[in-house]
Amino acid sequence: MDGKTRLAGIIGWPVEHSRSPMLHNHWCRVHQINGAYVPLPVEPGQLETALRGLVAAGFRGVNVTIPHKEEAFRLCDELTETARRAGAANILRFAEGRIIGDCTDGTGFCDNLLAHDVALEGRALILGAGGAARAVAASLQDRGCEVFISNRTAARAEALVQALGTGTVLDWAEWPDRLGEMNLLVNATSLGMGGRGDVDWPALLQAGQAGLGVADIVYTPRQTSLLKAAQERGFRTVDGLGMLICQARAGFQAWFGVLPDADEASFDLLAQDLARHGLS
Ligand SMILES: NC(=O)c1ccc[n+]([C@@H]2O[C@H](COP(=O)([O-])OP(=O)(O)OC[C@H]3O[C@@H](n4cnc5c(N)ncnc54)[C@H](OP(=O)(O)O)[C@@H]3O)[C@@H](O)[C@H]2O)c1
Repeated sequence: MDGKTRLAGIIGWPVEHSRSPMLHNHWCRVHQINGAYVPLPVEPGQLETALRGLVAAGFRGVNVTIPHKEEAFRLCDELTETARRAGAANILRFAEGRIIGDCTDGTGFCDNLLAHDVALEGRALILGAGGAARAVAASLQDRGCEVFISNRTAARAEALVQALGTGTVLDWAEWPDRLGEMNLLVNATSLGMGGRGDVDWPALLQAGQAGLGVADIVYTPRQTSLLKAAQERGFRTVDGLGMLICQARAGFQAWFGVLPDADEASFDLLAQDLARHGLS
């Protein structure tokens, strides 16, 4: 690093699970860019202070992850249409003291499903109403899916459906009974992250019909207890690692000037690292 090194990073709490630093620094090496991407643990309530500090310190921008995406949206000076539609921002670009927010979680999620030959059609039930769920819901809706939202805190699910304009809220206790009507189930909560949450997925998946697609956006571990239960039922499953790579490309381009490929080498690098840490 020297005085000309371009700096970016990821803000989250916790942030140590994130493989984004490994991915972006790999792309910097591959494309011979004088850049660095660092993890930035920022406690809830400190996001604005942290962002203004990074702008002042000359950072190009940051990724934003759990739990800051919705607050990041509110703090942006400008927003892309996609971020506005999602009501969340996961990519911030700093330009002339201003913060410009974009949201690539939804397109990253959909691109990854398509790469796994999962059709984006019919009824999609999304668990969660946080930043990532908002983006996934908006993108699935844009691609023609009928969207159902269920969240532990019902008011957040209702606010999301209101923001989307259409969609149906299902009570958190009710969704397992409605699973038989769905083509796709998406876990967009942090349940399963680092083994978090004590959920009896095999019981909750009982009503699922053959042909149900089950996607988990959590990728630490890749094989979450939801995906294990879904595989045992013979459902088609997609883990969250491909989404991580697909959503990261636009941020890298915004900060470092090159659009990297979501190629096998990037995937293998992260998959091997997760395996080394017992997170396959
Ligand atoms: N693969 C990828 O590229 C990718 C991209 C983005 C995010 N993610 C992952 O997606 C997850 C969510 O991220 P986010 O940014 O959307 O976070 P967030 O805004 O903080 O939202 C968290 C969501 O999880 C729910 N939740 C948390 N604990 C729960 C529990 N014990 N039982 C039921 N629901 C619970 C919350 O429900 P309440 O509203 O009731 O609190 C909320 O809906 C994280 O694990 C993150 O790492 C992965």
